Parts: sequence; structure tokens; C-alpha cells
Amino acid sequence: MSNKIQTLGEFIIENQDSFQFSSGELSRLINSIRLAAKVVNHEVNKAGLVDILGAAGDTNIQGEDQQKLDVYANEKFIQTLTKRNIVCGIASEEEDSFISINSQDENHQNKYVVLIDPLDGSSNIDVNVSVGTIFSIYRRVTPVGTPVQLKDFLQKGSEQVAAGYVVYGTSTMLVYTTGHGVNGFTLNPAIGTFYLSHPKMEFPEDGTMYSVNEGNYLDFPLGIKKYIKYCQEEEGDRPYTSRYIGSLVSDFHRNMIKGGIYMYPKGSRNPDGKLRLLYECNPMAFIAEQANGKSSDGYIRTMDVEPTELHQRVPFVCGSKNMVNKVEEFMRKYGE
Ligand code: AHG
Ligand code: MN
Ligand code: MN
Repeated sequence: MSNKIQTLGEFIIENQDSFQFSSGELSRLINSIRLAAKVVNHEVNKAGLVDILGAAGDTNIQGEDQQKLDVYANEKFIQTLTKRNIVCGIASEEEDSFISINSQDENHQNKYVVLIDPLDGSSNIDVNVSVGTIFSIYRRVTPVGTPVQLKDFLQKGSEQVAAGYVVYGTSTMLVYTTGHGVNGFTLNPAIGTFYLSHPKMEFPEDGTMYSVNEGNYLDFPLGIKKYIKYCQEEEGDRPYTSRYIGSLVSDFHRNMIKGGIYMYPKGSRNPDGKLRLLYECNPMAFIAEQANGKSSDGYIRTMDVEPTELHQRVPFVCGSKNMVNKVEEFMRKYGE
């Protein structure tokens, strides 16, 4: 690693040539996400002031309606990507259907679609705990210059060209991959610049932390129950400990740095799991694999799951390779 301090802007420009079909479009797209992330970060940091400045649903001093942060984040990301005319379509966890951009303009040549979870971990907002944004980028499969179609979004995770997340934590970080490893950038809030702080991030092969909502334990498949018991048993010298923030981005981020596994299995309340394949699981799976980790639904690779609908949910097991392998071994042995 060189000692040179590098900003995210510089990094994007310097790495532009490594993109397979480089035309600058993907660079501009990631730049827009960087911009929207800064705007959302500013708002997230003010969340604690809502009680004194006005709650969601109230009207603020300028006569504007106060919004819930997930609605705000959704609007900001969509606005930034739409107004800068950078993508041909957006699908968001917060929208019922996908959005087609410039569908009336035959000259528009944009070839990327973006899928986002604008605010992940939203139940943590009111209690000053980290939240995040997740994004996933694909090349459209229908011809440029035509309106996007559902099939542009229903692509397997293995087709992603880039994916990343922003974690609004003790520091705000943007972490992303374009298929050449994973790099993390920390925001200096004083000047609004992201700096490369975590080059070439990798999951340790073995981890010590397991992250799962154990409140749902009775509901879990037998393979997962057995795995949790395996982590808890005293016998031998097992190093495992439990950490669960309840915000996928934050739990994943910690596990990638320290070594661990995140699980959201199926249960009777969530027969297909809770997390969304396109907005949450695939982008995190792409980052995990690019960081020497692994992601699966307990049996098969997350990025090989064939999507059938926009808001599809899947069971999700993701993190340090040896831990995910162990879960798969338990699932094969004990099943549901
Ligand atoms: P979102 O806020 O985008 O709806 O996502 C919440 C997700 C994920 O971030 C988190 O890990 C999980 O839901 C927590 O679910 P439980 O409260 O059921 O544990
Ligand atoms: Mn989410
Ligand atoms: Mn969300």
C-alpha cells in the first residue's frame, strides 16, 4: 500500500480503466451515489434533533413537510440519479415498482440500472444506532434507447457490475466493489470528502462472531438451530460470541473487519426469510465474495438465485468463508 492519501473522487478516476466497458458512465454513477450519500448523511446526523425541531409528519419552519428518514433517503438517491441523467432505471425497496428514466427520449444512451435499499436498519434511527444504504448496479439487458423493463432488474447477482453500501456510524463510510476487490472510504465531515481508509478489505477466513436475531430461534430451521448451539457449546475451545445490531449494513461491516457471520434464516413469520434478494442480499453477497467471504441461502450461492420478482425475499447467510461453509454443512445434515 502506498502512503499517498487518496480521495474517493481520485480513486474513481484512477480506477476507471479497470471497468470492463469503461466509458466513464459507471464512474459518474458512483460519483452520484457518493454525492447522495453525503446529503443523506447530513440528514441522518440530525435525526436526534427531530424531537425539538419537528417530528416526521410535522411541518417545518419553511413550511415543508418533515419526512421519515427512509422516505427522505429514497427521494435523495432517486433525485440525484435522475436529475444527473446517469441511469436508465431505478428500483428501490421503498417503491412498489421500478422507475424508468428518460423513457420518452430515444437518444438517451444510459446503460445502467440501480437497485437500492435507501435506508437499511430503519428501526435504529430513533435510538441513535448506525443505519446504512445499500446499492447494486447492473448493465441493462434490453437495448439502450428503449424504456427499461422488469427483466433489466431481475438479473442474477452474479451479473452485478458494482455494489456497495454506506454505513452512517461513528464515522460515515462508503464501501464498494466493481469486481476488483473491496475498498472503504471514510468521510471527513468537516470538509465533506471521503478518503480511502480501508484499501482491499477482506473477511478473515475464520470468524468469532455470529449475528442473528435469536428472538426468532424457535422458528429457525433445524440446521440453523444446531449451528447456533454449536457456536454456544463450551466443549473444546470454541471462540464464538454473539453480536447483533439489527442493521444488516452495520452487522456486515463489523463482521467483515473482525470476522463473523450474519444470518437471517426463514421462519414461520418470514417463510422466505426477511431480507430482499435484489436490494440487500445480492449486493452484500457481491461485496462478501470480493472480500474473500461467502454468501448463500444455506444451500446455494446467493448470487446464483434466479430472481422472479422485484421484492423477493431469501434466507441469507453471509460472512467469513469457513463459518458459512459450516452453516451449509449443518443445513445439509439437519435441513429444515
Ligand atoms: P430495513 O430497515 O431496510 O427494512 O432493513 C432491516 C433489516 C436488516 O437491516 C436487519 O438486519 C434486519 O432487517 C433486522 O430484522 P429483525 O428486526 O427482524 O431482526
Ligand atoms: Mn434493509
Ligand atoms: Mn430499508
